[in-house]
Amino acid sequence: MEITLATLPNYLRQRPKMTRSFEQGATFRIEEIGDGNLNTVYRVSDATHTEHSIVLKHAPPYIKILGPDYPLSIERLTFEARALELYARFANDTVPTQYDFDPEAAVIAMEDLRDAHVLRDDLINGTVDTTIAEQIGRFMGAAHSRTYINNIDSATAEHYKQQFANTTMQAITADYVFTFPFTEHETNFWTPGLEPEIQRLKADTDFLEQAEHLKQIFLTAQQGITHGDLHTGSVLVQDNTAKVIDAEFAFYGPVGFDLGLYWANYLLAHFAHQDNQRVQSALKTAIGQTWQTYTTTFEMTDTELKTQTLENIFHEAVGFAGLEILRRLMGAAHVKDIENILDISQKLRAEKAALQFGITLVKQHNAFSDVAAIIAML
Ligand SMILES: Nc1ncnc2c1ncn2[C@@H]1O[C@H](COP(=O)(O)OP(=O)(O)OP(=O)(O)O)[C@@H](O)[C@H]1O
Ligand SMILES: [Mg+2]
Repeated sequence: MEITLATLPNYLRQRPKMTRSFEQGATFRIEEIGDGNLNTVYRVSDATHTEHSIVLKHAPPYIKILGPDYPLSIERLTFEARALELYARFANDTVPTQYDFDPEAAVIAMEDLRDAHVLRDDLINGTVDTTIAEQIGRFMGAAHSRTYINNIDSATAEHYKQQFANTTMQAITADYVFTFPFTEHETNFWTPGLEPEIQRLKADTDFLEQAEHLKQIFLTAQQGITHGDLHTGSVLVQDNTAKVIDAEFAFYGPVGFDLGLYWANYLLAHFAHQDNQRVQSALKTAIGQTWQTYTTTFEMTDTELKTQTLENIFHEAVGFAGLEILRRLMGAAHVKDIENILDISQKLRAEKAALQFGITLVKQHNAFSDVAAIIAML
């Protein structure tokens, strides 16, 4: 079933649980607020008591911005609902409260994070709150370690693997992060001045081997519940509090993928702010703090095993970070942080620096001893 602005009021009247905070028989005020590519997001308010509002996320059976010719399973919202439920258990204050989920219509009703802004927009504006990075580090540490394969019994592990077998979305990431950017593909684009570097990269067998190796880890490692799309556009900031949204890519996989994506997007912001030392220095602190709170929150009783586990997560995260940086420069989906730079030579300078950094992270991901070594390279 597809839900539109026109059919939504009727739909809501049949699901009173979703608007239970509203007055009985309330008239709905509805606005579309989503800025994403895949789904529609609405804010629904009680028209006479607008302080009562909810957010509805709906997955149409296709990619929203491309239209019905590009089908995509609505099951993606089931994975998001499951992840939200799980995060509420392990990191309650870092996600919006989920009020209701309708798998048939693919609708999640959740807390309206009023006046929240997207973390990426804050970073673009030069506002870097390192406590947000700390909160996200804690969030990942809790969600990963509480579902980590060595921390749970085999029945729980089987349950998670089955509940989070999100193969459709995992395949999309495999294509758009690990494969398409480094081949000839119609969705790729880049700033013309980057051409020589990009051609060199596509012929670099050492790089391609490492990228393929990381792709295999992405597709086969089963370590813990991974958000799968934790970039700075998936974090909302409300009153200095971080809230993680958009978990439709959640799967049971290599948890370092979350750290890698998150770091990569801080790194992209860092290169975008190439002439602003204050912002760059805060971003470096943020990267370090993410790891700091991650490792202290990540629980594992056997300390030796914990050290080994974190080392492995770190190395994989570094490799994933490198690939995320690169695909944002030469793949289908770029980031506003860099695309917004209007001066083309300035943009190219940021992109060249980011590209070299990304390549190094991929090729040397196992050689970095700790996060300080990465920050030192900036
Ligand atoms: N609980 C919420 N409270 C307030 N605003 C929200 C909430 N959930 C989502 N939004 C708004 O809607 C936007 C899109 O949400 P979301 O990223 O979940 O959608 P999406 O279609 O899956 O996006 P994408 O195409 O990036 O995957 C967010 O950036 C945010 O502005
Ligand atoms: Mg999404």
